[in-house]
Amino acid sequence: MCRISARLVVTSHNRLDWGSHTTTGRGDGVVPSATGSSASGYRRYAEVYDLVWKAAPYDRFADLCLDAATRAGVGVRRVVDAACGTGSLAVELARRGYRTTGFDLSRGMLERAAAKCRAMGLHVGFVLGDLRAAPLTESCADLVVLLNASLNYLLEPAEVVAALGHLGRLVRPHGAVVLEPLAARFLHQGYEPARHLAQGAFRLDASYELMGDLLVERVAWSIDGHEVVESYCQRYYDDEQMEALVGAAGLVVAERRPMYPALRVEPARGRTLWVAVP
Ligand SMILES: C[S@@+](CC[C@H](N)C(=O)[O-])C[C@H]1O[C@@H](n2cnc3c(N)ncnc32)[C@H](O)[C@@H]1O
Repeated sequence: MCRISARLVVTSHNRLDWGSHTTTGRGDGVVPSATGSSASGYRRYAEVYDLVWKAAPYDRFADLCLDAATRAGVGVRRVVDAACGTGSLAVELARRGYRTTGFDLSRGMLERAAAKCRAMGLHVGFVLGDLRAAPLTESCADLVVLLNASLNYLLEPAEVVAALGHLGRLVRPHGAVVLEPLAARFLHQGYEPARHLAQGAFRLDASYELMGDLLVERVAWSIDGHEVVESYCQRYYDDEQMEALVGAAGLVVAERRPMYPALRVEPARGRTLWVAVP
């Protein structure tokens, strides 16, 4: 098992200094950029994402986010689901009557999100946009949520700071940003080092390789005789680093809430919601 090697120092001027990546292996062609993420959002993975995560309890994710916001004293009416993917959480929030907007960098993910809403007769605004500069107006939400380690696709600390600062400006002054960064347990305690799914004609194998502080996920699937392989890269930030990044973005960590046992399923162990306020 590799060790996370990068160390973050935040000076009084909020300048970020990191150690360099330590790389102990190679993924299958994913080369993390030295200067920034080659952010593209999910590509063909959008076609099968909902098959992979169909058992994920988005209703409980919504409960936990809303509960976290309430504990932070936020009255929630308007929610932005950042990096919303196929919109499963946004759909759940809209179903409960919250005015919901979702954005994501993947057109494919958003097309599926919009189709789900149409099918359910729900109204959610979906916008194509990057975490670092979502095309939404300041103070447009009471609550911004950013779940499922989506933040970790930003491979440079400065990008994370830019994104968090931007998300912080989307919430009104007494609002909150609830985010779920990549959990240490996933990397260091060997949880789900590989995943295999078989559902009818759909087969998927996912494997994960840790390269210093970078996690490379390789997903290979076949559906109706077509084979597809894609790789995605995330960067892990430990709690100390994440707290410094949140602070550098001008936000304050109000709470860190373990998702287990409130979410009483094994994959929730180690997952944590961070509640950040302006
Ligand atoms: C693990 S999925 C999570 C999707 C959704 N939040 C969920 O919980 O199902 C990660 C999402 O992040 C999106 N993404 C990656 N980089 C992004 C960026 N820079 N800006 C916006 N979205 C991004 C991907 O397209 C993908 O939909």
